[in-house]
Amino acid sequence: MERTYIMIKPDGVQRRLTGEIIRRFENRGLTLVALKMLTPSRETAAAHYDVHKERPFFNDLVDFVTSGPVVAMVWEGPEAVKLTRQMIGATKPLEATPGTIRGDYTCDVMSNLIHGSDSPENAEAEIKLWFAASEI
Ligand code: RTP
Ligand code: MG
Repeated sequence: MERTYIMIKPDGVQRRLTGEIIRRFENRGLTLVALKMLTPSRETAAAHYDVHKERPFFNDLVDFVTSGPVVAMVWEGPEAVKLTRQMIGATKPLEATPGTIRGDYTCDVMSNLIHGSDSPENAEAEIKLWFAASEI
């Protein structure tokens, strides 16, 4: 079993897609092992996206992710990292195929509803960043 960090971004919460997104993961057979709603601090958002700190969109990304409440979650299942990334869909709107969350609900490269860890190592680090051990 593998765990991954999934976060419904502020646009997903505002568009009332939280239930739809959770339903998809539960229907697929994944297990929700932690969940909380919070408005991220700039410090946490910047640490989360530290890998992108030199990119031109970094400040806009931190502004976006801290603009309102997010739903932070840990999901568990076989190959959960790859499986959830597949269900989320690609970052570039034209590459996000229909049937994926992004492919079905967004055409914007920034406001793309949801984050999913991209490797088991990053999943572990992100779970530690967003959750205290007692919350899982
Ligand atoms: P995420 O980390 O949020 O799961 O998304 P991802 O792996 O699909 O994409 P990544 O390359 O890690 O980018 C992180 C987030 O930054 C925003 N973004 N904006 N304006 C742009 O060109 C641009 N590129 C990326 C998106 O919100 C993306 O999910
Ligand atoms: Mg990423």
